[in-house]
Amino acid sequence: MKLTIEDVRSRFIKHFDGSTGSVYASPGRINLIGEHTDYNNGYVFPGAVEQGMIAELKPNGTRNVDAYSIDLKDRVQFSLDDDKGPKASWARYIYGVCREMMALGVPVQGFNTAFAGDVPLGAGMSSSAALESTYAFALNDMFGDNKIDRMELARVGQRTEHKYIGVNCGIMDQAISCLGKAGHLMRMDCRSGEIAYFPWHPKGYQLVLVNSCVKHELAGSPYNERRLQCEHVAEVIAKKHPEVKSLRDANYDMLEEVKSEITADEYKRARYVIGEVARVLAVCDALEKDDYETVGQMMYETHHGLSKEYEVSCEELDFLNDVAKEEGVTGSRIMGGGFGGCTINLVADELADNFKKVVVEKFEKKYGKKPIIIDVVIGDGARKLC
Ligand code: GLA
Repeated sequence: MKLTIEDVRSRFIKHFDGSTGSVYASPGRINLIGEHTDYNNGYVFPGAVEQGMIAELKPNGTRNVDAYSIDLKDRVQFSLDDDKGPKASWARYIYGVCREMMALGVPVQGFNTAFAGDVPLGAGMSSSAALESTYAFALNDMFGDNKIDRMELARVGQRTEHKYIGVNCGIMDQAISCLGKAGHLMRMDCRSGEIAYFPWHPKGYQLVLVNSCVKHELAGSPYNERRLQCEHVAEVIAKKHPEVKSLRDANYDMLEEVKSEITADEYKRARYVIGEVARVLAVCDALEKDDYETVGQMMYETHHGLSKEYEVSCEELDFLNDVAKEEGVTGSRIMGGGFGGCTINLVADELADNFKKVVVEKFEKKYGKKPIIIDVVIGDGARKLC
């Protein structure tokens, strides 16, 4: 069920002094193509979804934040001036955002807050970026006269992941959560920060997510190791080709030249990234021609790369991809960081109902539990609700 302002406001009133504050929201995301390219300075192509986080905040005249997670029924207090911050990981996201906003010169004051979300957790739809963006946007509005632009708010969320959570993520999730536009996908060049919005009204097709419900958590996963492997290959290539600053600048010939100087795993990781950077641009061209067959084919290629070369898939996600192929789905792949979560499927309208039914049946037969189908509606980025 869709989360509403009232769901959050009623708890805010109940758990604090009965008064109300200001309410903000930020979305989770899908990504059509461009996976693990952001921290290699390549392109990504995400869109914000209607599901996200909603938070109510009210200054409380102290230096303390009193935070209530409605979903977890957990309450945590921390001081803005404490260098260590709270232990609970959900509260560390809020703490990290406060501290990073303060580091940018925003005079953050203590506040009471309650929040909830309807982005499925661990589905690879960036619930944590939605949380970070909600608070970065709110603090900028409440204490910072909205002086910080949305891209910098995204970087606040990214630094929170790096410094307070331990995930060395790229910028995609936070950028789309802050900068998403209803009805549009956003292609972003992660080196220059340049953004192009593409209207997303596929004629005769729709996007369907299938959540394997295999929990994906980037903290503690090999995500950081993948990033290091990519950076190492780029360094080795740069010794021969100084113009290569990251894998985004490399090509297959350069990779072959250094094959004996890197590990077999590093070679596979880099092959995937070089292919993926090119696929994002190919998909953008195809979309301009309404060529959904090419878009779909690229999605299958991405899945293959993520599964066999980048090795961030799992049995359940590969199974969902196989079912999509069997059912004539135009394109299908793992979405997000991997290690669990969803597949994203580009499905012709006339096949959609049958695909949703059959994929649930086949998955349940094999794994004894139902995957969850999520229809995608592309929504707006961070905003004030009231
Ligand atoms: C996670 C990270 C992003 C990105 C994706 C993979 O969602 O937060 O920065 O690297 O994985 O594309």
